[in-house]
Amino acid sequence: MKLSQSFTKTTKNAPADEVSRSAKYLLRAGYIYKEMAGVYDYLPLGMRTLDKIVQVIREEINAIGGEELRMTSLQPKDAWVASGRWDDKVLDVWFKTKLNAGGELGLATTHEEALTHLMKTFISSYKDLPIYAYQFQTKFRNELRAKSGIMRTREFLMKDLYSFSKNREQHDLFYEKVSKTYLKIFDRLGIGDSTFRTFASGGSFSKFSDEFQTLCDAGEDIIYLDREKGIAVNEEVYTDETLKDLGLDKKNLEKCKAAEVGNIFTLGYKYSDALDLCFNDEDGKRQKVFMGSYGIGPSRVMGVIAEKLSDDKGLIWPEEIAPYKYYLIGIGEEGIKKAAELHDMAPEDVLLDDRENARTGEKFADAELMGIPVRVVVSDKTLADGKVEIKERKTGETKLLTLDEFTSKLS
Ligand SMILES: Nc1ncnc2c1ncn2[C@@H]1O[C@H](COP(=O)(O)OP(=O)(O)O)[C@@H](O)[C@H]1O
Ligand SMILES: [Mg+2]
Repeated sequence: MKLSQSFTKTTKNAPADEVSRSAKYLLRAGYIYKEMAGVYDYLPLGMRTLDKIVQVIREEINAIGGEELRMTSLQPKDAWVASGRWDDKVLDVWFKTKLNAGGELGLATTHEEALTHLMKTFISSYKDLPIYAYQFQTKFRNELRAKSGIMRTREFLMKDLYSFSKNREQHDLFYEKVSKTYLKIFDRLGIGDSTFRTFASGGSFSKFSDEFQTLCDAGEDIIYLDREKGIAVNEEVYTDETLKDLGLDKKNLEKCKAAEVGNIFTLGYKYSDALDLCFNDEDGKRQKVFMGSYGIGPSRVMGVIAEKLSDDKGLIWPEEIAPYKYYLIGIGEEGIKKAAELHDMAPEDVLLDDRENARTGEKFADAELMGIPVRVVVSDKTLADGKVEIKERKTGETKLLTLDEFTSKLS
């Protein structure tokens, strides 16, 4: 990508009403655009990062047998009436609207009802189970207060996975697998060492649900963390009884602020009961399907990563999700020519700062603000020795590579 051809521009100042560090940097660096409170657009850089986060999650969910689909965000009222959640007093974040042709519909806050209903078409026998279906889909929630840029928004992306099992045993095996997979995902996304499985309020079928909480000052949750054991308890279920249940000792727990990046639930028969989703078991007996649901918010995750992996100069993306791997700057006549040549070898890896109206100092500052992992400078001076200078964003380390060494790194 050539920066001279991109419509986005970096800015010196963030809007005054943005308080979180992640929102300020993402706006200033041109990753996102604010439409209104809690509603953002993903600009080319932001979209690339979000897509890469999605891809990491997709690979890991596919590896445990997930099958991807994409459902509509427009949801008919009936399934929600059946589950008892159409009522605004039960679910207070609805966006509802009317069809011109008559009738009401809701914009998806989540997809349990819709997918349970869909599965009635495909599940009839124990041989059909288990099913692990997931999607990356837009959710709409009429949150009272939007907060911290893309960390709490009114429209956001969710990876929602749903499991359909023939009984609790089959469910429990998968639930534990997902939990392990989540930790692997957060590892790959660069927040593994600060993300903890956290016991939180459950529902009717299990005492707890499991949240995945990342330590973060801009987070909205309070958790009590046992660092040694690597698990935590959400403040909402922090009681003497819970601690006893979990074998945790008060004096080993640290009170921390955290952001919920994922949440997994044992749903049991809640939705299969409400929508009558059944199968015939090995003995030909009609049984209810046992369900679970598993969410991660890739857009919130992006905000949390930006919040945590950044310094006073800007963002510091882990390589796997950075929009580009290299930020390439040519200096001097030969340097500029060579830089363009190197860019053309791997335009997907390289963001070429070929802006004619920007000074070198500004280019250096923008490379840091955007958080591209490796800055590459090709100047007449480095070229005299057949070299380029690279600088790691994370460590600040610089070194010279020969042109051959660098080109062999380009994919
Ligand atoms: N308003 C929001 N903005 C961005 N991401 C969200 C929002 N609400 C939820 N998420 C993401 O979706 C995941 C699953 O959400 P869920 O547990 O259903 O929401 P909640 O905890 O608000 O009831 C959360 O762990 C989080 O990553
Ligand atoms: Mg949750």
